[in-house]
Amino acid sequence: MTVRGADYKRKKNDAYQTPPEAVAPLLATISFSERVCDPCSGKGNILRVLKAKGHLVGGGDITRGYDFLLHKFRWPGHDVVTNPPFGGRSGKTAVAFVKRALEVTAPEGKVAMLLPVDFDSGGSREIIFGMCPHFSAKIILLNRIRWFRNQSGSTNHAWYVWNHKSNQNPPIILYAKQEFK
Ligand SMILES: C[S@@+](CC[C@H](N)C(=O)[O-])C[C@H]1O[C@@H](n2cnc3c(N)ncnc32)[C@H](O)[C@@H]1O
Repeated sequence: MTVRGADYKRKKNDAYQTPPEAVAPLLATISFSERVCDPCSGKGNILRVLKAKGHLVGGGDITRGYDFLLHKFRWPGHDVVTNPPFGGRSGKTAVAFVKRALEVTAPEGKVAMLLPVDFDSGGSREIIFGMCPHFSAKIILLNRIRWFRNQSGSTNHAWYVWNHKSNQNPPIILYAKQEFK
């Protein structure tokens, strides 16, 4: 996840917590399996929303000694929903998170990642978007996420969804008008 805005200070590990309103449009559109993980769960904002919807949730975070990029196991039957660390201007950590999440959820899970709205436009990212048969939906948030009270950022975001069971690329594109407090 990347946050831009004149008054925003960079946070270590991109520790920006996702407001619950940003998760609602995803859950209104995509159904997830009973078990869902956020592998960089921070303060657990996404997991709380999923739990309230009846999912069994699990999480970890580098600040608690868990490094998802070094994770060696698969999570069959689990889906991944997260707002990953971005990794500087190039977004290379976010790309690594998408690739790792696709590996651990294979062969039948779903992955949803909250990322900048133009994240799929980089030529080097075709491997996870245009060339990936499992990239199945992009949900564009029409209102900017408020990461901090009384401050709006200058980056627009979208949920990107991959589904191992689907080979329906090109993906569907949806627009969500969600108000942020
Ligand atoms: C943008 S925050 C999102 C937190 C939470 N997923 C949410 O949406 O509210 C990114 C989180 O990734 C964690 N993180 C960074 N690198 C990580 C890694 N390699 N493995 C696990 N967590 C990591 C950070 O500590 C931070 O909590």
